[in-house]
Amino acid sequence: SWDSYCEHRIVSVFDRATAAAEWLRGHGCGGADVAVVLGSGLGDFADHLGGSLTIPYADIPHWPASRVIGHAGKLGAGSVAGRRVLALSGRVHHYEGHDLQTVTFAMRVMGRLGVPRVILTNAAGGISPNCSRGALMVIDDHINLMGGNPLAGPNDERFGLRFPDMTNVYSPRLRAIADEAGRALDVAVQHGVYVAVLGPSYETPAEIRAFRTLGADAVGMSTAPEAIVARHMGLDVLGISCITNAAAGVFPEPLHHSEVMETAQQVKGQFIALLEGIIGRL
Ligand code: HPA
Repeated sequence: SWDSYCEHRIVSVFDRATAAAEWLRGHGCGGADVAVVLGSGLGDFADHLGGSLTIPYADIPHWPASRVIGHAGKLGAGSVAGRRVLALSGRVHHYEGHDLQTVTFAMRVMGRLGVPRVILTNAAGGISPNCSRGALMVIDDHINLMGGNPLAGPNDERFGLRFPDMTNVYSPRLRAIADEAGRALDVAVQHGVYVAVLGPSYETPAEIRAFRTLGADAVGMSTAPEAIVARHMGLDVLGISCITNAAAGVFPEPLHHSEVMETAQQVKGQFIALLEGIIGRL
């Protein structure tokens, strides 16, 4: 609408994120130890929060709404293993037509809330042999092929540096904690590089061969912009991919979103256990 267009031109991302954070603080969401972004089909973790309260995204000032099937669009606040957790069920994607500032607005709000770390989860296609359907992969690093960077445009120094370092986007300490949790639970944890693409079409087999050559182990349509923005603000980041399908051309069968949702459903028990194990070790 014209009103929201004007508002977005006049009010900075910093001010909008601050307003949303203040609103959330006033609604019982302050003092969180970690925020967890739940990817396609992985939203059920939010039901495992103790003493939780749920806020529809639509109620939060300036918060963008997602319309993708499998993305619920709500923020849960509660506790897991004695830690205060914010669970973000549903995210908006660049392929929906949202710009990358909108895609990463939730991260800006987490930063302004003072949340010290985020766990970014996603559904992804498996490229390397150890990332077969149903595997859980800790993201060691990413390759951003989404075609844009969320930090492009004027830099707001109140968030962070113009040229932030990306040597360790995904915290070595948090990655080690994920391994520990996996060992303790007897949940297999893979490691690999996530390549972020725009989508929404799935990749061609030639693109997957190219990504394999580039060093990618899994491919998906999210996470990298959020990780960049979280690091811009100095938050620690952990990324976990649920490998919901073999990437295009690995097998002859065509890809379908229903396979993504089905696999996420099958893996969710292990996935939730791993998240709880990680949060208990923070
Ligand atoms: N490609 C891109 N994104 C995805 C995939 C895939 O194969 N599976 C789940 N998200």
